[in-house]
Amino acid sequence: MAEPLVLGVESSCDETGIGLVRGTTLLANAVASSVDQHARFGGVVPEVASRAHLEAMVPTIQRACTEAGVTLDQVDAVAVTAGPGLAGALLVGVAAAKSLALGLGVPLYGVNHLGAHVAVDVLDHGPLPEPMMALLVSGGHTNLLHVPDITSDIRSLGQTIDDAAGEAYDKVARVLGLPYPGGPHIDRAARDGDPTAIRFPRGLTSRKDMDRHRYDFSFSGLKSSVVRWVQARERAGEPVPVADVAASFQEAVVDVLTAKAVLACTEHGVMDLQLGGGVAANNRLRELLEERCAEAGIRLRVPRRDLCTDNGAMVAALGSLLIAKGHEPSPLDIPADSSQPVGQIRPLAQVGA
Ligand code: KG4
Ligand code: ZN
Repeated sequence: MAEPLVLGVESSCDETGIGLVRGTTLLANAVASSVDQHARFGGVVPEVASRAHLEAMVPTIQRACTEAGVTLDQVDAVAVTAGPGLAGALLVGVAAAKSLALGLGVPLYGVNHLGAHVAVDVLDHGPLPEPMMALLVSGGHTNLLHVPDITSDIRSLGQTIDDAAGEAYDKVARVLGLPYPGGPHIDRAARDGDPTAIRFPRGLTSRKDMDRHRYDFSFSGLKSSVVRWVQARERAGEPVPVADVAASFQEAVVDVLTAKAVLACTEHGVMDLQLGGGVAANNRLRELLEERCAEAGIRLRVPRRDLCTDNGAMVAALGSLLIAKGHEPSPLDIPADSSQPVGQIRPLAQVGA
């Protein structure tokens, strides 16, 4: 029998993503982003994102089918991000996925967004190592995960206790007068700057913090420190060296991300690490992580860029792996759970169901 054709639906933040995967082969990855509509607010506005998902959902489904050269009646299963994410945004995708599953008479697989970020690399670099570590860094999340089995066992080692890494990039970019989303602009500006020009704080790395928050991250103190530094220059009537501030800020972020990811690998004896999320596009992060992984003997996997940012193919990939391992489909009344815990790969059925 041919491997199942799985349609994945992603709508947890500002990307409406529809992916089509057969087994572990990527057929289509259609994404509609509402990022431009959020630019003037400097961050994602949940109501705006929900409306954009509503408008983009059907056209994106159609685009994915055209890209893959399939029709909806050929789809064998539907997978959907049930959480975590923005409640209203998730609801649009979950409702669309349930309607598709019901209408087509195929099983539904609700999945965890972070698990999907990890599963996606099966489409790019083949079977996932078991166990593996994953460092997920985006505008919405910063997670260090220990993954013995992507379909049944994901353990959260650490996460940000305040801002996500991408969020810090976006906020610092704003202070430096750079456009939203700021990550790529800081990345570019930093190329001409000196990363040692200003010693910004490395969050949660003191001895005391390493006891309590060994694998956790914090970027809000760093962000405040950059803001204070820039404001002091402005008050003194001195020009702000944008490239040096960008490079020094970036160095503080990637130093901590890479150090803690490598530490997690060596302390757990897990020598395969995957990087994911929108910030994975960052040049300095990739460079330093490659360097530190090579020194520690860790094999690093980084999915290609359009698979790192939020998309539907990653959801279809996790759905496909669940089917391959014989997991049961989800009931049609699964909730959209904005705070679905990392370790909960599948959403729970409604109480009393
Ligand atoms: O995964 P993503 O597209 O969406 C979610 O946040 O879920 O990630 C977007 C984030 C934004 O904060 C953006 O500034 C950041 O990823 N980003 C970068 C780079 N490209 C995108 N941050 C640093 N360097 C980059 N090159
Ligand atoms: Zn994401």
